[in-house]
Amino acid sequence: MGVLWWPVFVVGVLVLESALIADGGLTSSFVRKVEKTIDMPLDSDVFTTPPGYNAPQQVHITQGDHVGKAMIVSWVTMDEPGSNTVYYWRQNSKRKMKAEGMLTKYSFFNYTSGFIHHCNITHLKHDTKYNYMVGTGHTTRTFWFTTPPEVGPDVPYTFGLIGDLGQSYDSNITLSHYEMNPVKGQTVLFVGDISYADNYPNHDNRRWDSWGRFAERSTAYQPWIWTVGNHEIDFAPEIGEDEPFKPYSHRYHVPYKSSGSTAPFWYSIKRASAHIIVLASYSAYGKYTPQYKWLEQELPKVNRTETPWLIVLMHSPWYNSYNYHYMEGETMRVMYEPWFVKYKVDVVFAGHVHAYERSERVSNIAYNIVNGICKPVTDQSAPVYITIGDGGNLEGLATNMTEPQPEYSAFREASFGHATFDIKNRTHAFYGWHRNQDGSAVTGDTMWFYNRYWHPEDESTSV
Ligand SMILES: [Fe+2]
Repeated sequence: MGVLWWPVFVVGVLVLESALIADGGLTSSFVRKVEKTIDMPLDSDVFTTPPGYNAPQQVHITQGDHVGKAMIVSWVTMDEPGSNTVYYWRQNSKRKMKAEGMLTKYSFFNYTSGFIHHCNITHLKHDTKYNYMVGTGHTTRTFWFTTPPEVGPDVPYTFGLIGDLGQSYDSNITLSHYEMNPVKGQTVLFVGDISYADNYPNHDNRRWDSWGRFAERSTAYQPWIWTVGNHEIDFAPEIGEDEPFKPYSHRYHVPYKSSGSTAPFWYSIKRASAHIIVLASYSAYGKYTPQYKWLEQELPKVNRTETPWLIVLMHSPWYNSYNYHYMEGETMRVMYEPWFVKYKVDVVFAGHVHAYERSERVSNIAYNIVNGICKPVTDQSAPVYITIGDGGNLEGLATNMTEPQPEYSAFREASFGHATFDIKNRTHAFYGWHRNQDGSAVTGDTMWFYNRYWHPEDESTSV
């Protein structure tokens, strides 16, 4: 009898132990067909130059102030400076208004940019559709955008989330998938790494231009909120280019001054019911630095009665269980994580790792060098950390994961995709991640977010 029972006992112990070890979340069983991710050639149709002499191209817009009543319109003319004027009018009005912008250009090694225009249209009405026109003579082009509703606690609003996009065939699928998503994103929160031009010899800046033309079908019609990634640094002293962020800074303007920031790499905006803080993984963030001092005074200003949802964007993730870019976000985490818990950040979106991952609400702030307490713990005041660096750039997917899956990791999958964060009211937001292989209405990972200030209940999906 004893002999018969013994194996049953052993099996029982083994099952219990494996359950404990695998206490983390889910590593998706979805197996993606592995193909090399390559950039679309420069003569691809998505890179086509608009017809007409000096036609405006690479049109993109972003929020131009702190509350969503301004829009920065940017475009490039290749042949001559052309006009800096944007004409704009409300959809149901014939009365055209105009705003004057500015012009810039730059050179990078043997490349000289076109004429880069930026025009901030201010004093817009909330929740209003505007048409706008750039260019002159026979080569004007007209686009449109909708301003967000006035900032307020129960304003529904839907953000798209895209990271590390690049300009490969997979990038094109990601963008199309976002456009076809029945959950209609109204603004893209972009978590860094735009064109990947720096992967080409001498950082071939023609790839910045081609990216601008590729993404225009979205960036001209809805604001993209920019976060800086490592592929925006373009630091190449070996070819005489030692000014970091040179192409990015000339091409992409953000409203950093309106949130009291002193540099365009970290700033905040309010949009609808969200307060969005953009941080810079590649600018100094240690104590006493401009970014540190800015964030220190920014967080107490967040008014959750006005903007219940506190969202942070950064490029390099703090919680990442892939074997890529391991620990790169760690030093910033050490500096800022206690603040994120204190101020109850709802969610942090990062990129950099070319895959998808969502964490539970965890923090790791007890460690003080001598006490040895250095394990992430469940913390209902902590954000959910989402890595969404799966836009599809030419560097390909991160497929190699830390095993076993850490307890804090709720879901991970090495597939390209995008996500949406659909705010319903001050308490609830529905989050969905979409892999590119599925139909546009299919979600690969979902979560109902409960607001940390108004409804701070456990919404964990693992247990
Ligand atoms: Fe990156």
